[in-house]
Amino acid sequence: MTLPSLKIRSLESELPIIQAGMGVRVGNACLAAAAVNAGGYGVIASVGLGDDTSREKRDFARESNRFLVEEVRAARRLCGNKKPVGVNIMVALSNYEEIARASVGEKVDFIISGAGLPLNLPQYVGDADIALIPVISSGRALAIILKAWKRKYNRAPDAVIVEGPRCGGHLGFSREELDRMETRSLEILYAETSAVLKEYNLNIPLIGAGEVASRDDIRHMLKLGFAGVQIGTRILATEEAGMDRASKMVYVSSRNSDVTVINSPVGLPVRVLKTALVERVLAGKRDQFTCPWRCLRTCNPATAPFCIAKALMATWSGDIDNGLFMVGCNVDALDKITTVKEFFDSLR
Ligand SMILES: Cc1cc2nc3c(=O)[nH]c(=O)nc-3n(C[C@H](O)[C@H](O)[C@H](O)COP(=O)(O)O)c2cc1C
Repeated sequence: MTLPSLKIRSLESELPIIQAGMGVRVGNACLAAAAVNAGGYGVIASVGLGDDTSREKRDFARESNRFLVEEVRAARRLCGNKKPVGVNIMVALSNYEEIARASVGEKVDFIISGAGLPLNLPQYVGDADIALIPVISSGRALAIILKAWKRKYNRAPDAVIVEGPRCGGHLGFSREELDRMETRSLEILYAETSAVLKEYNLNIPLIGAGEVASRDDIRHMLKLGFAGVQIGTRILATEEAGMDRASKMVYVSSRNSDVTVINSPVGLPVRVLKTALVERVLAGKRDQFTCPWRCLRTCNPATAPFCIAKALMATWSGDIDNGLFMVGCNVDALDKITTVKEFFDSLR
């Protein structure tokens, strides 16, 4: 069976794959363009783009916007203005509105938004021809978004990403649900979310996310009823991922038994590798840090055990001891660094 294309609003990709917009800086222009060139949707992560190294650059929102605009333009250049190039914006960001408005100004093709409910997103996008794609982990969350968007903006999402409990990064599940992941499987989540869409008479693609690393994994998702997949972890070990090679090798040399879940300063559980920083956090040690930006609405720097922005920047720069390595359950799937094209071609 050849894989179908993925249509969202007026967009279409040859393969039914969305490259996950991974922060901080993993999902950069280079990765997004590579994903588009290889036949998927390319996504730029909008979190942690501010530069805190110089005093004049302390205006976090303005600085983040400047980086985002540069990344979007670079991605467009690198893929010869092909589509679809979009952004991922976490609702928990303190500069959510500014980043959303800057993305609209750059005429991105789509906006993916999760880590909270993107209830006000249509307000910032207005009439712009941009596909809106919320990320949810339950039928209940989807119903809340659909109801609010319909009532306030008379608008519906153009697609929905359904993140299962085995995903990498921040998770929209309680610790109790994560202890019994089979009760929140993607099969169950598909049934729940497709029932909500039916209730609202909406025929839009549902995209499944979690542990996709092969053609068989994609086929399995399509069989469940999803129109496509979002892939994160498997793309970490690619040449184009925005991260120092030393950090990529940490992923490649890790095993599934190294994966754990901790509480993130974002206010959600986060799945990570058990590296030195995580061992310190699990031992109850608190990193001393000053907060340069208040980048997250949900973080209290006075009590947070570590600064997640700094930890993710450390991963980006190859500082293994201080890095936070977000990851999905299936890190075993990473056995070497490949290009995005090699990986996508292996899925055809
Ligand atoms: C390193 C890393 C960073 C991530 N950053 C973000 C992010 O900034 N915003 C977001 O919505 N999801 C983020 N995610 C979640 C992904 O978008 C995706 O849904 C998830 O990784 C899919 O599961 P998989 O990793 O098993 O493929 C991240 C995941 C990883 C592994």
